[in-house]
This record gives sequence, structure tokens and C-alpha cells, in this order.
Amino acid sequence: MKWSAKQNETILAGDGLERVILADGPWRAGKTVAMAAGFLLWAQEHFRGHQFLLMAKTSQQARLNMIPKLADAAADIGIPADHWDWSDYRKELKVGPRRGYNLYIFIDSATAGSRGKLRGVDAAGMWATEVSTLDELTYLEGVGRCSAEGSKLWLDTNPAINGKGHWSYRYIKEAERLKVKRFKYELGDNPGLPADYEATQRAAMSPIMAARFLDGSWEVDASTQVYPAADMRIEPRPPGEPEQWWLVVDAGFAGTTAASLFGVWPEAAWLCGEYRHSAREEGRLPDSAHAGFIRSMMPRDGVSTRVVVDPAAGGLKAELAGLGVVTADALNDVHQGIINCSIALSSGWLRFDPGGSDWTRRELELYRFDERSLAVGEAKPVKREDHHADVCRYFVSTYLAAGPSAAPEFFRV
Ligand SMILES: Nc1ncnc2c1ncn2[C@@H]1O[C@H](COP(=O)(O)OP(=O)(O)OP(=O)(O)O)[C@@H](O)[C@H]1O
Ligand SMILES: [Mg+2]
Repeated sequence: MKWSAKQNETILAGDGLERVILADGPWRAGKTVAMAAGFLLWAQEHFRGHQFLLMAKTSQQARLNMIPKLADAAADIGIPADHWDWSDYRKELKVGPRRGYNLYIFIDSATAGSRGKLRGVDAAGMWATEVSTLDELTYLEGVGRCSAEGSKLWLDTNPAINGKGHWSYRYIKEAERLKVKRFKYELGDNPGLPADYEATQRAAMSPIMAARFLDGSWEVDASTQVYPAADMRIEPRPPGEPEQWWLVVDAGFAGTTAASLFGVWPEAAWLCGEYRHSAREEGRLPDSAHAGFIRSMMPRDGVSTRVVVDPAAGGLKAELAGLGVVTADALNDVHQGIINCSIALSSGWLRFDPGGSDWTRRELELYRFDERSLAVGEAKPVKREDHHADVCRYFVSTYLAAGPSAAPEFFRV
């Protein structure tokens, strides 16, 4: 392959002093092929008999994106075919002679659940692709594994959906402190792209999408984001029982039913557990089945649980009543609810236990105002994958309305 100047610099970046090599920018800019070549060249040149991590959101990514591009790079570098052994079953790649090969271990990292696979691994480096789609905890566990002398992190990504609010933006913002060599790609850095690619794509995209995916800008999407991801405090709930439990439910007959369990401790409230059922993905369930699941989420530790339900969910409320569960209607003013929830998040009053908040965190991060509504001075959220976001809103608003004695510190500032 005939590389562009930017790709060439990326490929040789392993010789530099920086610990992190980052390639960010638009779609199709030639980042990943250059990363694959640079990472493999550096690892094979500097190490023998070491382990490395390959990280992507799903194993599909390994199969379709990482491994083929590494294989092309290997051919380019001149690694003989019998020095290459990819096991799709084990998700492991061996490169090098039989004695002294390097082992590349693939880790999918869509959720924090993958962290366990990293226990005990001792690595000399990692290539993480599309970093802005990875789970932060799994990613950090991978970083922590890279303890060998001279280890490096190779990262490529498009700008995150939530722009500068995403955790990975710290590699750009704090490049010096984190010892990052950044390569900011543009479409022109891929000599293999058809001449009309950019124009064709741009014509089909909204300006916000084009800024992110064709210009590679991290600035864009924050304007439409309802809650900045930076506001989300993820930390384990305190030990012991809370002062109150709140079980809050959003119900959709043909859509998704979501419920979350919140514990209120003196200093803050924690989201501790979630229930989600998508009728579209998993088939419809009768209200009685949802009611059974929801009741089983009520802790039996002697602390009272208040159950708050979407006011429109008449059938579910009746089923819960039939099981002896007393419910109250959630306060459902969208606009005020978003304001309340924003304050609860930015003040750090509403926190997220890492063990029971995956769906909610994902939804809150993706929760967007509709661009058209913003353009006419309204702020309406996009109604899509917003069930756990609605649950948070119900919780904060209903909790606040329960009286000044219940009002947390955040509301007094
Ligand atoms: N120097 C080059 N010469 C010819 N083709 C190239 C060159 N660099 C990249 N390509 C091709 O362009 C396509 C996009 O490259 P690559 O996957 O590296 O882009 P990317 O920046 O990672 O894009 P995305 O953000 O979509 O993952 C690939 O098919 C790749 O083989
Ligand atoms: Mg790529």
C-alpha cells in the first residue's frame, strides 16, 4: 500500500517517546490501517514472547476490522505466513516463530462485564479501536494491564457521540500530561478514497453529522445533548442500608418497560439496579409478568420501598396492586423533570453504582434534544431509547415533590 504522509508518521510513532499514540478523525480517513501497521511493527520489533491486548466493542469488530488489517500489515512488513496464527475460537493471535511469538489477546468491551477476562493478564501494550465506543472501566483495566517496560497504548477513534463530554476526550485535552502523540486525521489523509466520497456523503448528512463524521470534530454534538456525560458520577453505593428505597417504573405496552431501584443515603442517591424488557426485541409480556419482576426487585431489608409508576400505565398499576404493592403516580412534566435531573446529576447527588446502571448510563449519554426543536427555541428530547432516562426524571421529580424534608442538598443551592 502507498501510505499518505500522516499514515507514515503514525506507523513510525512507536519509535517516539510518547506512551500513547492516538489517531482520531472522520470516517474512512485511513486511521485503522495505519494503526494496525504501526502497532504490529512496534510490537514485533521491540518484544518477543510478550502479550498484547486488542480491544474493540464487539468480537465482530475483531473479525471484520482488526484482524484483517493486522494481516495486511503483517504481509506488508514481511512477516512469513507460518508466523501468523489467528484462532477465531479463542480470539487470540500468535505472531512470530514458534519459540518466542507474541500473543495478542482480543477483548470485547461493550460493557464493564468484560473486565473479568483481563484478570491476571500481563501485557506490553494495547491497540484499542474506536475508543469512543468502549466501556471506560474495561478500557482502564486494559490500560492497567500494560505494565511491561516500554509499553504503549495505540488508540483510534471517531469523535464520540457526546463530543467533549466523552471520557476518551481526556487524551486530547490533557495530551501533554498523558504523554500522547496525537494524529488528527482528515479525509485527505486516505489516498485510496474515491474522489466524490466526501461530496456524496455530505449531501446526505445533517450539518451536525457531517461535522462529526466528515470533519472529525469533537465540538459538535454537545449542543443537543441533554445531560453531559461528564456529570455522571459512577461509584459503588455505600455499604449498609439506605434511608429509603425507591422503585421507579416506566411502562410501554408495545415498547420497552424499564424499572430502576434507587437507594437514598444521607449524602446522595444511588441507582442500584435495573430491569428492562423490550417487547420489540424479546416479545410482548403481559402486565402481570412485568409486575412480578418488578415486585421481585423490592429489597427485603426492612427499609420501606416507595413504588412510583408512569401515570399512563394503568394496567401495570392494577397488576401491582393485585400483588399487594402500593404505587404512586410519577410526576411527568418533561421540561421541569429534565431541569431537576440535570441539577441532580451536575451536583453529584444522583450517582450510579457500576454494578447496576449500564442501561441507564448508556441511555442518559445518548439522550438528545431534537435538533429541529432547538432551532425553533423549544427543547424537546428525541423519543428513542429513553425509558431509563424517563425513569430517572420520574424519580428526581417525584422525590423532590415528596416534601422539603426529603429535598436533598442539591436543591437548596
Ligand atoms: N493509503 C491507502 N491507500 C489505499 N487505500 C487505503 C489507504 N489507507 C486506507 N485505505 C482504505 O480506506 C478504507 C478506510 O481505511 P480505514 O479503515 O483505516 O479508515 P478509518 O479511518 O479507520 O475509518 P473508520 O473511522 O470508518 O473506521 C479501507 O478500506 C482501507 O483499506
Ligand atoms: Mg477504523
